[in-house]
Amino acid sequence: MPHCGFMALNHEDPATAPPAHRWEEAGEAWGSRAADWACLYEHYSLDVLLALLPRLGVGPGTSLLDVACGSGMAVRVADGMGANVAGIDAAAELVAVACARTPTADLRVGSMFELPWPDEHFDAVVSVNGIWGGCGAALDQVHRVLRSGGLVAISFWGQGPPLDIREVFKVFAFHSPENHKGSMRSLNDIAVPGIAEEMLEASGISVVERGGRISTMEWPDADLAWRAVSSVGPAVPALRSNDTAALRDAVLAALEPCRDRRGMYRTRSDHQFVVAKKP
Ligand SMILES: C[S@@+](CC[C@H](N)C(=O)[O-])C[C@H]1O[C@@H](n2cnc3c(N)ncnc32)[C@H](O)[C@@H]1O
Repeated sequence: MPHCGFMALNHEDPATAPPAHRWEEAGEAWGSRAADWACLYEHYSLDVLLALLPRLGVGPGTSLLDVACGSGMAVRVADGMGANVAGIDAAAELVAVACARTPTADLRVGSMFELPWPDEHFDAVVSVNGIWGGCGAALDQVHRVLRSGGLVAISFWGQGPPLDIREVFKVFAFHSPENHKGSMRSLNDIAVPGIAEEMLEASGISVVERGGRISTMEWPDADLAWRAVSSVGPAVPALRSNDTAALRDAVLAALEPCRDRRGMYRTRSDHQFVVAKKP
C-alpha cells in the first residue's frame, strides 16, 4: 500500500519531477474516506510505533516531526509521551482529524518535498509508510530539518511472509488504469531489502538499524473490512473505474483466508523499518 502518494513522485531528477500539484492529487485520494481510514485502518501502525518512538528517544521535550502524518496516530502517541510534535500531510481531510485529536501539535497540509520548517529544527523525524520508492527527495528535506546527531525512522511494508495486506493491494492494482500500475510498482520498490537504506544514505543520513514487526489489522465483519481497506489512497483509481460491488467482492475474496470462524477478519503483514542518524 502506498504512500508517498498513489502517484510516482520522483524528484531525484528535476527534468522528470512531476508538477507541484500532484501532491494535492495524492492528498485528495488519501483524504477521500478520511473517517474510515482514521477509525478502521490506521491501527495498522501500532506495533511499529511502539518500536520506533523509543528508538527515536521520544520523551518530554523532544521536538519530533511526522512526515506524511495522516490522521495522526503517531502524533497523538508522541504527544502523550511529552514530545513537541509537528506533522505534515498532503490530505487536508486527514490533517483535520489529526488536529482534532492533538490540538497542541503543529500540523500542516503540504508536501513532504517542501517541508515548511527551518533547517536543523527537529531532534527526530518519523515517517510511517509515508516515504516510498522514488521519494528520495523527501529524505533530502528530512536531512535539512533534522539537527546534527538527530534520528530518523521510516517504515514500509516488507516482503513477508506474512504479507496478507498485499493481496488487497494486488486487487486494487489489477483493477486500476494502466498508468497507475507502473507508478504503484515504483512506490513499492521500497520493500526490496537495501532500498530504504540506499535512499537514506543517498540523503546523507547514516543507517543505524533495520528491524520489523508484524502489523495486525482486525475488523469484525465483511462490511467493516471493506470500508477499511477501500479507504487507502491506492483504492481510488480502482474505485473510479470499476463497479464498486464487483470490486468489493474481489477484495473480500482476497481477504477470505483472513476470516476466522466467527466472521472476524485479521490480517498479519510484515512491517519493516529503518532507523538512521544525521551525522
Ligand atoms: C499510508 S498513509 C500513512 C499515513 C500515516 N503515516 C499513518 O501511518 O497512519 C500515506 C500518507 O502519505 C500522504 N502523502 C502522500 N503524498 C504526500 C506528499 N507528497 N506529501 C505529504 N504527504 C503525502 C497521504 O496523504 C497519506 O496520508
